[in-house]
Amino acid sequence: MLNALDSLKQYSVIVADTGDLDAVARWRPQDTTTNPSILLSAAQDPRYRAIVDASMDQDIESTLDRLFVAFGCEILKIIPGRVSTEVDARLSFDIEGSIAKARQLVSLYENQKIERKRILIKLASTWEGIRAAERLEREGIHCNLTLLFSFAQAVACADAGVTLISPFVGRIYDWYRQNKKVDDIPAAEDPGVASVVKIYNYYKKHGYKTQVMGASFRKIEQIMALSGCDLLTIAPDLLEKLSKKDGEIERVLSPEKARKLSIEKTPLDHQSFLWQHNTDAMAVEKLSDGIRKFDADARKLEAAVGALLKKSKAAA
Ligand code: E4P
Repeated sequence: MLNALDSLKQYSVIVADTGDLDAVARWRPQDTTTNPSILLSAAQDPRYRAIVDASMDQDIESTLDRLFVAFGCEILKIIPGRVSTEVDARLSFDIEGSIAKARQLVSLYENQKIERKRILIKLASTWEGIRAAERLEREGIHCNLTLLFSFAQAVACADAGVTLISPFVGRIYDWYRQNKKVDDIPAAEDPGVASVVKIYNYYKKHGYKTQVMGASFRKIEQIMALSGCDLLTIAPDLLEKLSKKDGEIERVLSPEKARKLSIEKTPLDHQSFLWQHNTDAMAVEKLSDGIRKFDADARKLEAAVGALLKKSKAAA
């Protein structure tokens, strides 16, 4: 009998949401996603100290770039597909800065003989992040637009022709749970799940090429409720739970079903993007909070790596 994970693999591409190389090796996903919080915990893991030591460079910024790419390269030795590497959250409102950082990360990968098709550059789904992605895609640099909470963000990403979006399920669920003061919201009523369903159906109905990768899960019921989504990025603890759940799961999302729905196209310019995004209090709070959190973890990583860098300079 198939377990839930094997069953899910029939309908969606399974991605591991982790920087833990042993977990990547164990779960053998097609792709892997990282973010600053994930890389903070991987870099602090004694098992991966050699990767951190080998990344030391002249200054902290280039050391962090080298570290992110070093983890990406190690992951790519294990998986057949793509790794996502995120640009610094401080660049979330800086189009030129984001483009420069993305090019720098890609060139570090290319120095390691990694082709562009195996890299996804992660950018926050701000208006500026989306504009940066639009230009990067024209250069053949593929982008994964993250911290995506509102429908407006999803529409703007598709119109910009980005390769992939990561709509967050769990953080939407967290917000509504806190707001409604409830311990749980069942998957059938979960606004995080509903957000991905709406985006997926809109994309497929209107023939957008942008892939939808559900992200940020808190429980396996959210994942199973999105079976059929193009990709699902899942943390190792939830991969484990899915693998232990016996029985087949049904496909929920499909392009065929989406095409039968009546959904109007909603083009957005800058002003209407800001307006529509702003009407969604959850999305406004969660986007800002997400940028602050990724920034805080990147600064923690910077401090930890900075101390090591100082030591290695003193020893040289
Ligand atoms: C993946 O791309 C996201 O960064 C990740 O799923 C976020 O998950 P979290 O909400 O558990 O931090």
